[in-house]
Amino acid sequence: MDEKVEIRWVEETDSTQDEVRRHISEYDNLSVVAAEFQKAGRGQRGNTWLAMKGENLTFSMLLKFGEKGFPSLKASEQFLITKAATVGVTDYLGSKSISCSIKWPNDIYFRDKKICGMLIENILDKEYLAFSVVGIGLNVNQREFPPQLMNPTSMSAITGKTYDIKEELDLLADYLASAFKATLGSDNEFEADHEYVRRLYRKDEFHEFTICQDGSLLEGKIIGVTPGGLVQIMNRKGELFQFAFKEISYII
Ligand code: BTN
Repeated sequence: MDEKVEIRWVEETDSTQDEVRRHISEYDNLSVVAAEFQKAGRGQRGNTWLAMKGENLTFSMLLKFGEKGFPSLKASEQFLITKAATVGVTDYLGSKSISCSIKWPNDIYFRDKKICGMLIENILDKEYLAFSVVGIGLNVNQREFPPQLMNPTSMSAITGKTYDIKEELDLLADYLASAFKATLGSDNEFEADHEYVRRLYRKDEFHEFTICQDGSLLEGKIIGVTPGGLVQIMNRKGELFQFAFKEISYII
């Protein structure tokens, strides 16, 4: 499979996630829609995604499975998409000399600050994936952020440079397409599992986490992530705990 990534830029839309969904049958596998401005950008946990017009990358990449795209993928294997997407973004940032880690499950961090967030929406056909819409918000040139964002940073804040967002998207889309092809394609030559775990934020370091259900604290270290995407945390006694997204939060 050697499809070229097709990138469509729109000046303004509600959300690039919805823009892709509206055209899902027309667009090829690995198509990208990018917006200079999203009026209703969506983040994780029902949050809005705020980005200043023209300063950052806000885009969605469509993945197709089956006849028109990647080989069939079981719903139980969908975390592979997260692994490939996060490895693709960190590879791209590394190529810009910005060394980042992956804050489980899919935030990209530079030190203790968030530079990129992802919203991955999968559309299932029975127990298989039909489509995945991988939405990425990468802070590029923005230097001032609204106070409600906890710990944002951007490429420009880190390097002091100003970037051409369209040129950067051309590069980033290629890194993402390569990671998806290597992880989801038939060759399976790429160890996304290994790279994902190796790049995890705060891996093998003891920190406190909040257990969301009752607000209690757990001191432990992240030692891995299960194939289904549960984070594995070991406490000082060697006891192992596993959590799904939204069951645990970091204290940063
Ligand atoms: C997060 O909360 O960290 C996820 C943010 C995802 C934002 C991106 S911007 C492009 C795409 N379109 C959206 O509406 N959301 C994603």
